[in-house]
Amino acid sequence: MRHYVITGAGSGIGQAVADRLHRRGDALHLLARGPESAERVAHRYPGARTVVADLAEPATLAGAVAEAGLPEQIDGLLHVAGVLRLGRVAELDVAQWQASVMVNLVAPAELTRLLLPRLRHPGGHVVFVNSGAGLRTQPEWAAYSASKFGLRALADAVREEEAGTGLRVTTVYPGRTATPMQENVHWHEGRAYEPGRWIDPDTVATAVLTALDLPADAEISDVTVRVRPQRTDGS
Ligand SMILES: NC(=O)c1ccc[n+]([C@@H]2O[C@H](COP(=O)([O-])OP(=O)(O)OC[C@H]3O[C@@H](n4cnc5c(N)ncnc54)[C@H](OP(=O)(O)O)[C@@H]3O)[C@@H](O)[C@H]2O)c1
Repeated sequence: MRHYVITGAGSGIGQAVADRLHRRGDALHLLARGPESAERVAHRYPGARTVVADLAEPATLAGAVAEAGLPEQIDGLLHVAGVLRLGRVAELDVAQWQASVMVNLVAPAELTRLLLPRLRHPGGHVVFVNSGAGLRTQPEWAAYSASKFGLRALADAVREEEAGTGLRVTTVYPGRTATPMQENVHWHEGRAYEPGRWIDPDTVATAVLTALDLPADAEISDVTVRVRPQRTDGS
Protein backbone atom coordinates (compact mmCIF):
# COMPACT_ATOMS: atom_id res chain seq x y z
CA MET A 1 0.00 0.00 0.00
CA ARG A 2 1.39 3.38 -1.03
CA HIS A 3 0.73 6.71 0.68
CA TYR A 4 -0.37 9.68 -1.43
CA VAL A 5 -1.00 13.28 -0.42
CA ILE A 6 -3.42 14.88 -2.89
CA THR A 7 -4.72 18.42 -3.27
CA GLY A 8 -7.94 19.12 -5.17
CA ALA A 9 -9.48 15.67 -4.59
CA GLY A 10 -12.92 17.23 -4.06
CA SER A 11 -13.61 17.86 -7.75
CA GLY A 12 -12.68 17.21 -11.36
CA ILE A 13 -9.25 15.81 -12.15
CA GLY A 14 -8.20 15.46 -8.49
CA GLN A 15 -11.33 13.45 -7.75
CA ALA A 16 -10.68 11.18 -10.73
CA VAL A 17 -7.12 10.53 -9.49
CA ALA A 18 -8.30 9.91 -5.92
CA ASP A 19 -11.05 7.55 -7.16
CA ARG A 20 -8.47 5.42 -8.99
CA LEU A 21 -5.94 5.30 -6.13
CA HIS A 22 -8.62 4.61 -3.51
CA ARG A 23 -10.15 1.83 -5.60
CA ARG A 24 -6.83 0.00 -5.73
CA GLY A 25 -6.26 0.31 -1.98
CA ASP A 26 -3.64 3.04 -1.67
CA ALA A 27 -3.68 5.21 1.47
CA LEU A 28 -4.95 8.73 0.79
CA HIS A 29 -4.16 11.94 2.69
CA LEU A 30 -6.42 14.57 1.18
CA LEU A 31 -5.90 18.28 1.56
CA ALA A 32 -9.27 20.02 1.73
CA ARG A 33 -9.96 23.74 1.87
CA GLY A 34 -12.21 23.66 4.97
CA PRO A 35 -14.09 21.37 7.37
CA GLU A 36 -17.08 20.92 5.03
CA SER A 37 -15.00 19.87 2.03
CA ALA A 38 -12.93 17.63 4.34
CA GLU A 39 -16.13 15.92 5.47
CA ARG A 40 -17.23 15.44 1.85
CA VAL A 41 -13.98 13.77 0.77
CA ALA A 42 -13.79 11.69 3.96
CA HIS A 43 -17.28 10.38 3.15
CA ARG A 44 -16.39 9.59 -0.46
CA TYR A 45 -13.12 7.85 0.46
CA PRO A 46 -13.60 5.65 3.55
CA GLY A 47 -10.29 5.22 5.37
CA ALA A 48 -8.73 8.37 3.90
CA ARG A 49 -7.20 10.97 6.22
CA THR A 50 -7.84 14.67 5.66
CA VAL A 51 -5.67 17.74 6.11
CA VAL A 52 -7.63 20.99 6.36
CA ALA A 53 -5.82 23.94 4.76
CA ASP A 54 -6.66 26.79 2.41
CA LEU A 55 -4.12 26.89 -0.41
CA ALA A 56 -4.89 30.59 -0.87
CA GLU A 57 -3.01 31.06 2.42
CA PRO A 58 0.21 29.12 1.97
CA ALA A 59 1.68 30.41 5.23
CA THR A 60 -0.87 28.28 7.11
CA LEU A 61 0.30 25.04 5.48
CA ALA A 62 3.17 24.41 7.91
CA GLY A 63 0.78 24.29 10.87
CA ALA A 64 -1.74 22.12 9.02
CA VAL A 65 0.95 19.63 7.97
CA ALA A 66 2.42 19.53 11.49
CA GLU A 67 -1.00 18.59 12.91
CA ALA A 68 -1.91 16.09 10.20
CA GLY A 69 -0.05 13.07 11.56
CA LEU A 70 1.36 12.17 8.14
CA PRO A 71 3.50 9.04 7.86
CA GLU A 72 7.30 9.38 7.94
CA GLN A 73 7.47 8.22 4.33
CA ILE A 74 5.14 9.39 1.56
CA ASP A 75 5.20 7.83 -1.89
CA GLY A 76 3.57 10.65 -3.81
CA LEU A 77 2.60 14.28 -3.47
CA LEU A 78 0.03 15.12 -6.14
CA HIS A 79 -0.60 18.82 -6.71
CA VAL A 80 -3.93 18.91 -8.52
CA ALA A 81 -5.85 21.82 -6.94
CA GLY A 82 -5.97 25.00 -8.97
CA VAL A 83 -7.98 28.13 -9.63
CA LEU A 84 -8.67 30.02 -12.84
CA ARG A 85 -9.14 33.79 -12.90
CA LEU A 86 -9.75 35.03 -16.45
CA GLY A 87 -9.60 38.63 -17.57
CA ARG A 88 -7.55 41.05 -19.62
CA VAL A 89 -4.48 42.50 -17.91
CA ALA A 90 -6.22 45.88 -18.08
CA GLU A 91 -8.99 44.46 -15.86
CA LEU A 92 -7.35 41.95 -13.50
CA ASP A 93 -7.05 43.33 -9.98
CA VAL A 94 -4.51 42.45 -7.30
CA ALA A 95 -6.87 40.00 -5.58
CA GLN A 96 -7.22 37.97 -8.79
CA TRP A 97 -3.46 37.92 -9.33
CA GLN A 98 -2.90 36.93 -5.71
CA ALA A 99 -5.48 34.11 -5.82
CA SER A 100 -3.91 32.71 -9.00
CA VAL A 101 -0.33 32.85 -7.82
CA MET A 102 -0.98 31.72 -4.23
CA VAL A 103 -3.10 28.66 -5.04
CA ASN A 104 -1.40 27.62 -8.29
CA LEU A 105 2.24 28.34 -7.45
CA VAL A 106 3.18 29.46 -3.92
CA ALA A 107 1.10 26.78 -2.15
CA PRO A 108 2.55 23.92 -4.26
CA ALA A 109 6.05 25.28 -3.57
CA GLU A 110 5.42 25.48 0.18
CA LEU A 111 3.71 22.08 0.39
CA THR A 112 6.57 20.52 -1.57
CA ARG A 113 9.10 22.13 0.78
CA LEU A 114 7.24 20.84 3.84
CA LEU A 115 6.90 17.27 2.54
CA LEU A 116 10.26 16.83 0.80
CA PRO A 117 11.88 15.11 3.81
CA ARG A 118 9.17 12.41 3.59
CA LEU A 119 9.52 12.09 -0.19
CA ARG A 120 13.30 11.79 -0.46
CA HIS A 121 13.56 8.06 -1.03
CA PRO A 122 13.64 5.80 -4.07
CA GLY A 123 9.98 5.64 -5.02
CA GLY A 124 9.20 9.20 -3.89
CA HIS A 125 7.29 11.16 -6.54
CA VAL A 126 5.90 14.68 -6.92
CA VAL A 127 3.29 15.28 -9.63
CA PHE A 128 2.28 18.77 -10.71
CA VAL A 129 -0.95 19.10 -12.68
CA ASN A 130 -0.16 22.09 -14.87
CA SER A 131 -2.07 23.10 -18.04
CA GLY A 132 -1.59 23.72 -21.73
CA ALA A 133 -1.79 27.34 -20.56
CA GLY A 134 1.47 26.70 -18.69
CA LEU A 135 3.20 26.30 -22.06
CA ARG A 136 1.53 29.07 -24.09
CA THR A 137 -0.85 31.90 -23.32
CA GLN A 138 -3.56 33.98 -24.97
CA PRO A 139 -5.59 37.12 -24.22
CA GLU A 140 -7.43 36.97 -20.87
CA TRP A 141 -5.29 34.11 -19.56
CA ALA A 142 -2.36 36.13 -18.16
CA ALA A 143 -2.89 35.47 -14.44
CA TYR A 144 -3.57 31.75 -14.87
CA SER A 145 -0.80 31.24 -17.42
CA ALA A 146 1.74 33.18 -15.39
CA SER A 147 1.03 31.01 -12.34
CA LYS A 148 1.27 27.84 -14.45
CA PHE A 149 4.48 28.97 -16.25
CA GLY A 150 5.86 29.44 -12.72
CA LEU A 151 4.64 25.98 -11.70
CA ARG A 152 6.61 24.51 -14.58
CA ALA A 153 9.76 26.28 -13.36
CA LEU A 154 9.11 25.00 -9.84
CA ALA A 155 8.82 21.41 -11.07
CA ASP A 156 11.95 21.64 -13.22
CA ALA A 157 14.00 23.18 -10.39
CA VAL A 158 12.86 20.56 -7.83
CA ARG A 159 13.75 17.78 -10.28
CA GLU A 160 17.27 19.14 -10.71
CA GLU A 161 17.79 19.94 -7.03
CA GLU A 162 16.62 16.53 -5.80
CA ALA A 163 18.21 14.47 -8.57
CA GLY A 164 20.52 12.71 -6.13
CA THR A 165 17.75 11.59 -3.78
CA GLY A 166 15.78 9.27 -6.06
CA LEU A 167 12.79 11.63 -6.16
CA ARG A 168 10.85 11.60 -9.43
CA VAL A 169 9.07 14.76 -10.62
CA THR A 170 6.35 14.79 -13.27
CA THR A 171 4.42 17.66 -14.80
CA VAL A 172 1.14 16.83 -16.56
CA TYR A 173 -0.21 19.43 -19.01
CA PRO A 174 -3.88 18.68 -19.70
CA GLY A 175 -5.88 20.33 -22.44
CA ARG A 176 -9.53 21.25 -21.88
CA THR A 177 -11.00 18.69 -19.51
CA ALA A 178 -14.67 18.22 -18.59
CA THR A 179 -14.74 19.53 -15.00
CA PRO A 180 -16.49 22.36 -13.13
CA MET A 181 -13.48 24.57 -13.94
CA GLN A 182 -14.04 24.03 -17.67
CA GLU A 183 -17.75 24.73 -17.30
CA ASN A 184 -16.76 28.04 -15.75
CA VAL A 185 -14.42 28.80 -18.68
CA HIS A 186 -17.34 28.27 -21.08
CA TRP A 187 -19.52 30.60 -19.03
CA HIS A 188 -16.79 33.23 -19.23
CA GLU A 189 -16.45 32.71 -22.97
CA GLY A 190 -20.23 32.90 -23.45
CA ARG A 191 -20.32 29.45 -25.09
CA ALA A 192 -22.57 26.46 -24.51
CA TYR A 193 -20.81 23.79 -22.43
CA GLU A 194 -20.73 20.32 -23.98
CA PRO A 195 -18.65 18.11 -21.66
CA GLY A 196 -18.49 15.30 -24.25
CA ARG A 197 -16.27 17.49 -26.47
CA TRP A 198 -13.51 17.61 -23.87
CA ILE A 199 -11.12 15.20 -22.17
CA ASP A 200 -12.64 12.94 -19.52
CA PRO A 201 -10.98 13.67 -16.13
CA ASP A 202 -10.39 9.93 -15.78
CA THR A 203 -8.18 10.10 -18.89
CA VAL A 204 -5.96 12.68 -17.19
CA ALA A 205 -5.94 10.41 -14.13
CA THR A 206 -4.64 7.63 -16.40
CA ALA A 207 -1.70 9.88 -17.37
CA VAL A 208 -0.98 10.61 -13.71
CA LEU A 209 -1.12 6.95 -12.73
CA THR A 210 1.05 5.96 -15.68
CA ALA A 211 3.74 8.33 -14.40
CA LEU A 212 3.37 7.04 -10.82
CA ASP A 213 3.46 3.38 -11.84
CA LEU A 214 6.34 3.65 -14.32
CA PRO A 215 9.10 1.15 -13.47
CA ALA A 216 11.70 2.73 -11.18
CA ASP A 217 14.48 2.86 -13.80
CA ALA A 218 12.90 5.88 -15.52
CA GLU A 219 10.87 9.03 -14.97
CA ILE A 220 8.15 10.65 -17.04
CA SER A 221 9.19 14.28 -16.66
CA ASP A 222 6.49 15.95 -18.77
CA VAL A 223 3.34 14.69 -20.41
CA THR A 224 0.93 16.72 -22.52
CA VAL A 225 -2.63 15.38 -22.74
CA ARG A 226 -4.43 17.03 -25.63
CA VAL A 227 -8.04 16.85 -26.75
CA ARG A 228 -8.29 14.29 -29.57
CA PRO A 229 -8.48 16.05 -32.95
CA GLN A 230 -11.99 15.91 -34.42
CA ARG A 231 -12.37 13.87 -37.60
CA THR A 232 -13.75 15.86 -40.49
CA ASP A 233 -16.60 13.32 -40.93
CA GLY A 234 -17.65 14.06 -37.30
CA SER A 235 -17.10 10.50 -36.01
N1 LIG B 1 -10.42 21.48 -16.44
C1 LIG B 1 -9.53 21.82 -17.35
O1 LIG B 1 -9.89 22.06 -18.55
C2 LIG B 1 -8.07 21.92 -17.01
C3 LIG B 1 -7.16 21.99 -18.08
C4 LIG B 1 -5.80 22.10 -17.79
C5 LIG B 1 -5.37 22.08 -16.48
N2 LIG B 1 -6.28 22.00 -15.45
C6 LIG B 1 -5.75 21.99 -14.09
O2 LIG B 1 -6.17 20.78 -13.47
C7 LIG B 1 -6.26 20.98 -12.06
C8 LIG B 1 -7.62 20.51 -11.58
O3 LIG B 1 -8.60 21.31 -12.21
P1 LIG B 1 -10.12 20.86 -12.36
O4 LIG B 1 -10.51 21.19 -13.75
O5 LIG B 1 -10.30 19.50 -11.83
O6 LIG B 1 -10.81 21.98 -11.43
P2 LIG B 1 -11.99 21.92 -10.39
O7 LIG B 1 -13.00 20.90 -10.76
O8 LIG B 1 -12.41 23.35 -10.25
O9 LIG B 1 -11.28 21.45 -9.04
C9 LIG B 1 -10.32 22.27 -8.41
C10 LIG B 1 -9.97 21.68 -7.06
O10 LIG B 1 -9.03 22.58 -6.45
C11 LIG B 1 -9.44 22.83 -5.12
N3 LIG B 1 -9.06 24.16 -4.66
C12 LIG B 1 -9.21 25.34 -5.32
N4 LIG B 1 -8.83 26.36 -4.53
C13 LIG B 1 -8.42 25.80 -3.36
C14 LIG B 1 -7.94 26.34 -2.15
N5 LIG B 1 -7.79 27.66 -1.97
N6 LIG B 1 -7.60 25.50 -1.14
C15 LIG B 1 -7.76 24.16 -1.29
N7 LIG B 1 -8.24 23.58 -2.41
C16 LIG B 1 -8.57 24.40 -3.44
C17 LIG B 1 -10.97 22.77 -5.20
O11 LIG B 1 -11.48 22.60 -3.90
P3 LIG B 1 -13.02 22.94 -3.58
O12 LIG B 1 -13.77 21.74 -4.05
O13 LIG B 1 -13.03 23.15 -2.10
O14 LIG B 1 -13.35 24.20 -4.34
C18 LIG B 1 -11.17 21.58 -6.12
O15 LIG B 1 -11.10 20.38 -5.40
C19 LIG B 1 -6.00 22.47 -11.82
O16 LIG B 1 -4.68 22.66 -11.40
C20 LIG B 1 -6.23 23.10 -13.19
O17 LIG B 1 -5.49 24.28 -13.34
C21 LIG B 1 -7.62 21.90 -15.70
